[in-house]
Amino acid sequence: MKLGHYGSLLMAAARVEMARIVGAPTLPYKLEYILTFSCGSRCRTCNIWKRYIDDPEKRSEELSVDEIVRSVASAREHVRWVSLTGGEITDRDDLEDIVEGIVDAVGDRLSLLQFTTNGINPDRVEEAFSRILPMTAGIPTYVTMSLDGIGSTYERVRGVPNGYDKVQESMRRLEALNAPELTTSFQITLSELNHHEADALFDVASEGRERPIITMATNALQLTGGKADVDVRSAGPEVREALKRAAGRYPLRGLKDLPPKLHLGLVQRFFDRGDAPLPCVAGHASLTIDAYGGVLQCDSRDVPLAHLRANDFDIPAMCRSEGFREALAPLSGCRECFTPCQAYPTIMHNPTRAFVGAARGRLGL
Ligand SMILES: C[S@@+](CC[C@H](N)C(=O)[O-])C[C@H]1O[C@@H](n2cnc3c(N)ncnc32)[C@H](O)[C@@H]1O
Ligand code: SF4
Ligand code: SF4
Repeated sequence: MKLGHYGSLLMAAARVEMARIVGAPTLPYKLEYILTFSCGSRCRTCNIWKRYIDDPEKRSEELSVDEIVRSVASAREHVRWVSLTGGEITDRDDLEDIVEGIVDAVGDRLSLLQFTTNGINPDRVEEAFSRILPMTAGIPTYVTMSLDGIGSTYERVRGVPNGYDKVQESMRRLEALNAPELTTSFQITLSELNHHEADALFDVASEGRERPIITMATNALQLTGGKADVDVRSAGPEVREALKRAAGRYPLRGLKDLPPKLHLGLVQRFFDRGDAPLPCVAGHASLTIDAYGGVLQCDSRDVPLAHLRANDFDIPAMCRSEGFREALAPLSGCRECFTPCQAYPTIMHNPTRAFVGAARGRLGL
């Protein structure tokens, strides 16, 4: 990512903060789309994969390409960061069409286009990204692939036979596409299930590529459906210790390492306090759109603030509406969790407090 793209994200963050100061509606610069709840993994920290086993009809209600693109296009003036996640994005046969539509509508406005995949289907990953990456040329494109264990630990956490090898194969094929603006990284979700090999996982995930993104299990409602208690705060001290070691090992080679480095630096304060060390900017800087167009503050919520289909797919008009602002107000500045997808923007909005907090954490103050 070039300096201009960082500048553009910082400007967008400043605009949101200014709006908040003067009490104006906030228009999000980050849009995260949960494109589907379909998923072939069998994770123990996330129950998304069960959704269409329990209710297969529901899949037909997912947003269409046109609906997704209309909503992104409506946000053209303020959107700078689009994140595509799931479920499993590559389970959508029309993933490539979705990306084409987004790039046509707002590609010139984007400082970051992010994809998260479980990587368990190397053929589909290669097929999808060999079509997607030429479309995203010129846009900083970030693909993260989840890696929650090595060998048998991966299989225990994610329930996919030979899953570890499949993910490594997907990463190898993705990187062989050699796209200039592509950054690849593994994403490690630490929990009680894999903390014992956190250090080895960090090594494997760092080999020859961008350092991993390290996150931690929560009881996020979109993921667990309220039916799994995996929150690291109620785990033993081992997860916390593993995160502390990861913070110490994390590289700081440039601006791009700053949010993850500060995030890990602040994680010990998250455990000490029992809630996030900074007030979250989700709902103002970012919105999460579920597979059916429900507009969420973040993936921890299961009650939408609004619905795209009821708002003619017009995100700015929706954000300016009285109903939306009233629904968001009591949730604003929430501190319930401290996971990277919302913590990185939050750190960007609060750099001084983040630096001071991370320094205090390091000194044990
Ligand atoms: C919900 S998945 C969606 C993308 C894709 N299916 C994958 O697994 O990478 C996004 C990220 O959430 C992580 N995750 C899974 N369970 C979680 C939990 N209970 N709390 C926080 N993150 C979790 C996954 O490991 C993954 O890195
Ligand atoms: S974490 Fe990702 S791969 Fe695992 S069940 Fe959830 S959506 Fe699927
Ligand atoms: S802290 Fe942010 S990401 Fe976490 S539950 Fe609250 S609003 Fe959602």
